[in-house]
Amino acid sequence: TFTLTAEEMDEKQGLDAFRKRRSDSHKGSFGHLLIAAGSRTMSGAGVLCTRAAIHGGCGLVTWALPDRISGPLTGLVPEAMLQPMEDNGHGGWSAVAAEQLIPLTEGKEAMVLGPGMGRWDGDTLWMRAVWDQTDVPLVVDADGLNMMASSGTKPWPTRKAPVILTPHPGEMARLAGLTTAEVQADRIGLVRAFAAERGVTLVLKGARTVIATPDGKVYINRTGNSGMAKGGSGDVLAGLIGSLLAQGLHPEQAAVIGVFLHGQAGDRAAADKPSYALTASDLITYL
Ligand code: APR
Ligand code: MG
Repeated sequence: TFTLTAEEMDEKQGLDAFRKRRSDSHKGSFGHLLIAAGSRTMSGAGVLCTRAAIHGGCGLVTWALPDRISGPLTGLVPEAMLQPMEDNGHGGWSAVAAEQLIPLTEGKEAMVLGPGMGRWDGDTLWMRAVWDQTDVPLVVDADGLNMMASSGTKPWPTRKAPVILTPHPGEMARLAGLTTAEVQADRIGLVRAFAAERGVTLVLKGARTVIATPDGKVYINRTGNSGMAKGGSGDVLAGLIGSLLAQGLHPEQAAVIGVFLHGQAGDRAAADKPSYALTASDLITYL
């Protein structure tokens, strides 16, 4: 078990894993991330996730979102490309949009799926199709995790490409078929076993986020503070980890460095303003 402190995260531990921004580099040098996020009542999750990804350093970000909300959101994240998807008629995702998403993964170095997506009929089968039929490294968060949990606790086949799951304790409980109290009672043991069994990198969030790799390594994060206990913080983390994956970091590095920097951004923000006033957007500013 490794503890993530500022001292531990020196060059030896991996902050030098970032691809050097050589003077002759261009946007293609830093990867293209696809984000599937946001819906009518949770469009901000997509905005935060996409902004965090851009601030995380990747070269290009495409944000796929329901058609009816893409118009009103135009210009909110000017650096990203918007990909309007077949709409359910109310600014939500639909089964059709699912099929549309799979070909969009072509030529992308990574994908983030889930923040603020909402749920719809058949979404679990849809999620499974994305899992099986794409070979892009994948970060699954929020409703993406809930879709997986709805298929029961039987493990899905190990994916060809890497997967990072980023549940909060409630989402972890649904995935593992436990209560939230049971998850919190043995965070390290559960995360270690689940990551190994499923062949995924697992990020169990909360104060002292725990990260486990498929080969049994465990990291405990020491950055972050209670000012981050607000809606939107998790969406920022998912976008940041996706950005690091798109830049070619190994999933273990992307998860560990992403969690560490997310918390450190929160700590720097909390040094400048009261933690009550801290926002998820501040985390992006302080990245
Ligand atoms: N100390 C350190 N870090 C914290 C603390 C704390 N006390 N509280 C929260 N955080 C961090 C977590 O580690 C995590 O990275 O803030 C982030 C919170 O993420 P989520 O719980 O996923 O919250 P978020 O997604 O922003 O908002 C909640 O989204 O996931 C859905 O079901 C969820 O609808 C809910 C909404
Ligand atoms: Mg969340």
